[in-house]
Amino acid sequence: MSEAADRPAPSRRTLLCCGAAVLAGGSALALSGCASSTSDGGQSSSQAQGGQGQATKSSGPVELGPATDVPVGGGKVYREQRIVVTQPSAGQYHAFSARCTHAGCVVDQVKDNLIQCPCHGSRFNIADGTVAAGPAPTALPSYQVAVADGKIQVTTA
Ligand code: FES
Repeated sequence: MSEAADRPAPSRRTLLCCGAAVLAGGSALALSGCASSTSDGGQSSSQAQGGQGQATKSSGPVELGPATDVPVGGGKVYREQRIVVTQPSAGQYHAFSARCTHAGCVVDQVKDNLIQCPCHGSRFNIADGTVAAGPAPTALPSYQVAVADGKIQVTTA
């Protein structure tokens, strides 16, 4: 089960979009801007649940969805936004990059108190993103997270 095989090849438009946004230094902008321009990619429209509401703002937090989607003692992977949000204990939310620090695969699930990468088996602790099992060399980068009006909001920049 290779993550790369699960992912469609990026179109030229997607590469240009994300590359330009990275150059601009606005990763929150990159997430919302690129997510809305992947109509040629096929499957992304069915996973666009996080692209609602204020996620289209040019700056500020990315709104991912209802906080109730993130289980206590677990987490949720927002694949399209490349963000994983965890809730180790009730009301205590954490957000991390969903890109594995080993080779860049997107983590695919949160299970047994661990964020799990499907590519080579790395596991990360849900409380702080640190490596619980390699080969990942470092923790997942963390992001600021807040709950406003019952919605998860993550600031990636
Ligand atoms: Fe995640 Fe290799 S990319 S374990």
